[in-house]
Amino acid sequence: ATQVLKCDPSSITFLISSDDPRISSKETLDALKFAAHQLVDLSQTVVFPTETVYGLGALALDSNAASKIFSTKGRPPDNPLIVHVSSFAMLHSLLPPGYDIPKSYQVLMKHFWPGALTLLFPRNHEVVPSIITAGQPTVAIRMPSHPVARALIAIANAPLAAPSANTSGKPSPTRAEHARQDLNGKVGLILDGGACGVGLESTVIDGLHADGNIRVLRPGGITVEDVERVLRDNFKELGNTPAVLVHKRDYADKALESSPTTPGMKYRHYSPSVPLILLSTLSTLSGAQPSTTLDQYIHSLQQERSEGLLKIGVLAPTDSKLWGQLHAREDIAWHRYLLGPLATPSVIAHNLFDGLLSLEKEGVHLMMIEEVEEGREGLAIMNRVRKAASESIQVTLD
Ligand code: TXA
Ligand code: MG
Repeated sequence: ATQVLKCDPSSITFLISSDDPRISSKETLDALKFAAHQLVDLSQTVVFPTETVYGLGALALDSNAASKIFSTKGRPPDNPLIVHVSSFAMLHSLLPPGYDIPKSYQVLMKHFWPGALTLLFPRNHEVVPSIITAGQPTVAIRMPSHPVARALIAIANAPLAAPSANTSGKPSPTRAEHARQDLNGKVGLILDGGACGVGLESTVIDGLHADGNIRVLRPGGITVEDVERVLRDNFKELGNTPAVLVHKRDYADKALESSPTTPGMKYRHYSPSVPLILLSTLSTLSGAQPSTTLDQYIHSLQQERSEGLLKIGVLAPTDSKLWGQLHAREDIAWHRYLLGPLATPSVIAHNLFDGLLSLEKEGVHLMMIEEVEEGREGLAIMNRVRKAASESIQVTLD
């Protein structure tokens, strides 16, 4: 069975740029020491909270430990892992000797580390095992800001590889309870540090190209707007302002699209166990598709079913017009999940995976989620929703 131990993030203090956590709660210190023992001495996996989502951690520099991540998640071996560090010294230990970190990275790290930003670096082949990078010449690295994550890495005194702590293809866990439901019996230990603040995975960036531009491989917790602003504000130090290119939006990379290193491109992702239907209310991209009203759509769904109560989970912004259109019907049970105000996509991001997993737990037969604007966190939200959805339909709200 899986053991769950509480870790109180507020009992941990980190001096900025120090790798030495002070922990005032004995319960938390004991849990962290036990977790570090599992990782370091037994080469086991441990689930731990980060500010983005819960991670399934193992020693990054130990191929045997790292291989357990792949088997536990059922993760395809060609999908590389992110390595988590607690200090800059630990970062440097992973890079080729004498490697000069690009100026753009220095600026981004200064502003966003520790935090939800993952950067690609050239891999030091002597140190980083190829199982971590799936044979890529680069390694993805981030320094998490969650006190439990950072303290765990510091106490283990070793970089941890950690994908999201879910079975491959499922929504990422943002609470210890989500991870327990998904991985119960498959992992020995879960550290429960409460709900993750950000709720979506880190932004993955590649700034290693000769043109000096910043390529966003996966939109995430740090918004493209914030990356652009920080680069603009530091143009003097940088000598110019690098362009920030979002994959698929601003550039196409055929090689990348057929390779699994573009997060989520090759494999199914973020999907609950029941069909998720994206309700397109904003875009008119798929022009071929005629728009329907929600009532018409529900009617067509019910015609496909022979009988019985249809439980439909609905996820939409708290102040959406959609709520007014969920009409009471004898043959339908509406399960509502309010994602947060339209005006604050960060709140919607925080709630998205919890919404999918909560409605799944309620036993709905299908889910519908309303499209949001792609500004700020909305870009990462729609990136996840499009991958999670099995189908999308145009609806008109009036
Ligand atoms: O917020 C996060 O990033 C969470 C927490 C636990 O830190 N972790 C996470 O890991 O989301 P994972 O494995 O679910 O997603 C990592 C993504 C993968 O989709 C992978 O394709 C990409 O990062 N990645 C890793 N190494 C890469 C590399 N060398 N080149 C390109 N992409 C890489
Ligand atoms: Mg994942």
